[in-house]
Amino acid sequence: MTDNRVQELAQTRDQALGCQRCGLWRTRQHVVFGEGNPYATLLLIGEGPGATEDARGRPFVGQAGKLLDRALADAGLPRGDLWLTNLVRSRPCTLQNGGLRNRAPLAGEVAACRVWRDAEFDLVAPRVILCLGSVPASYLIHKDFRLNAERSQVFELEGTKCLATYHPSYPLRLAGEDYGRVFGALVADLKLAGALASE
Ligand code: URA
Repeated sequence: MTDNRVQELAQTRDQALGCQRCGLWRTRQHVVFGEGNPYATLLLIGEGPGATEDARGRPFVGQAGKLLDRALADAGLPRGDLWLTNLVRSRPCTLQNGGLRNRAPLAGEVAACRVWRDAEFDLVAPRVILCLGSVPASYLIHKDFRLNAERSQVFELEGTKCLATYHPSYPLRLAGEDYGRVFGALVADLKLAGALASE
């Protein structure tokens, strides 16, 4: 190791654990900071933690995370080689009928969390960023991003290649041929991102 990014990521994570930059701290159980290989050349970014991630304090460990793990295995990408993170680090949710319902992060929440995202991006310094779903793509690539038209296209984000694929929760809502098609496309995009990251 020729730099101190491991230590700086750990310090940044420690700071983020007490974050109250947006109102989501009121309902969260854990701040879910990014995790993985600090020297990853490929970074995956989702929307925000769900209930399982909030309970466990780790990204992509619920149902969508399990599907992502299967897609990563099919793409030949070990999860531990990557950096996995989210647009926001506290669970975006709304109180409804006495319970919490997941929702997409609000623009103000994404803006408030940007300090942690920028720190992760700067410290890990990946060659390629893969957005999982249109929500991260609309913040990182362009605001009108359309997944069906622009999935797999390679954009540039301040010198880093950036592309988008389906969110791993999407195939979970499909069955039969549709499931196979979307899961196959997710695997193909992971392979493409992995190949670009090792160029
Ligand atoms: N969905 C996301 O976007 N991120 C997670 O960490 C889990 C589910």
